[in-house]
Amino acid sequence: MDVLIVEGGRRLVGRVRVEGAKNAALPACVASLLTDESILVHRVPQLRDVSTILFTLGALGKRVVRNGGSVVISEDGPLTAEASPYSVRKMRASFLVLGPLVGRLGRAVVPLPGGCSIGARPVDLHLQGLRALGAHVEESAAAVTVSADRLRGARVEFSFPSVGATEQLLMTGTLAAGVTEIVNAAVEPEVLDLIELLRAMGAEIEVEGRTIRVTEAKLHGTEHTLIPDRIEAGTLLLAGVATRGAVTAVDVRPDHLEPFLAALRGMGVEITVAGGDVTASAPGGTRGIDIKTAPHPGFPTDLHPQTAAALCGAVGTSRVIETVFEGRFTYVEGMRAMGAQMAIDGRTATITGVSALRGAAVEAPDIRAGAALVLGALAAQGSSVLSGLDQIERGYEGLADKLGSLGAQIERREA
Ligand code: EPZ
Repeated sequence: MDVLIVEGGRRLVGRVRVEGAKNAALPACVASLLTDESILVHRVPQLRDVSTILFTLGALGKRVVRNGGSVVISEDGPLTAEASPYSVRKMRASFLVLGPLVGRLGRAVVPLPGGCSIGARPVDLHLQGLRALGAHVEESAAAVTVSADRLRGARVEFSFPSVGATEQLLMTGTLAAGVTEIVNAAVEPEVLDLIELLRAMGAEIEVEGRTIRVTEAKLHGTEHTLIPDRIEAGTLLLAGVATRGAVTAVDVRPDHLEPFLAALRGMGVEITVAGGDVTASAPGGTRGIDIKTAPHPGFPTDLHPQTAAALCGAVGTSRVIETVFEGRFTYVEGMRAMGAQMAIDGRTATITGVSALRGAAVEAPDIRAGAALVLGALAAQGSSVLSGLDQIERGYEGLADKLGSLGAQIERREA
């Protein structure tokens, strides 16, 4: 596998366009299972995880045609009820096919997604929701078999506003008789984008705070453009912040970034918003702050590692409390290798800013920790070698090219 060689210590300055949101693209593709008509989705990022979900849908009987950033998903034959173990294990969002398949076919067999480096990532809330709709759920060690002659709408209350479980129930609810009410639902921008898509397909969905009501409806084909990726946008803005530069993320939704931008302002970063362009500038460096992640509209857990990496070079002490994933601290080892001063106590990282990080050889353990290590390498004095690119490329399209266009000295090389 290739590696990234980064010569750090250079200010990043310039404009970079952000792709469509990975975490909106995945459920949007799965929504194609809810109708036998075609859906056309635009601004689909060219990412490994997107290829995996499209592979999964193809294996289930969908016809997938990709043309640059647009994807057409249509149906030219009966669907299969068994999802491929390969893809679900590779990318847990494939688990979202479960409810739509049961709604369409009356039965589905889907492998249980394993945990990953950031946590155990159980799917009990997904299964609680499907049982509430009248499905019979049988769990084995490796897979779950779900069947239902007829799904019936019900009230489902989540103990945690799970993004995936909300999306699973949203989509399945369109195929369940009557009304499905999801209480304590996730309301991340990516969930709301899925709701927009489902509405365009003919769904009747009401959102009131964290309560979402879905009425059964026969869904039809449509055309939809995904929202921009707020996590990629935040990561690129932090590349400017961590290197005392100024980066403009182009064609983003500033409203989706509010909790994150508030934290940057707290760090002393100058934020400018002009239409869909957001600029973060930190020529004089930054100061430490306290952050606590939380479900939207709180500070996004997916920007925790990258922000922590930037805080390693801030003046003073910062504390980052993680409330969503127990294993989110996978970036710490790599950052320490670069000289970061970090102490972990339970779910709290205490970071003491250092005057300079130094380049090191590190490996990306997962998507967002990998992005954090890239930011550390950009800020560090000297050169770094980053392996584990397959992880980074699951969530970032052309990251090295984008950073290079901002002035980074970064190149991909055969290991
Ligand atoms: C989605 O994961 C995102 N992935 C994650 O982004 C993101 O970090 C996460 O939401 C939180 O915002 C996609 O959208 C594809 P959850 P998801 O269900 O749906 C617990 C990235 O880097 N939980 O909201 O899996 C779970 O263990 C990825 O792009 C249960 O206990 O997140 C976790 O502690 C990483 N039971 C918490 O809820 C369940 O049935 C949040 O999980 C489901 C979840």
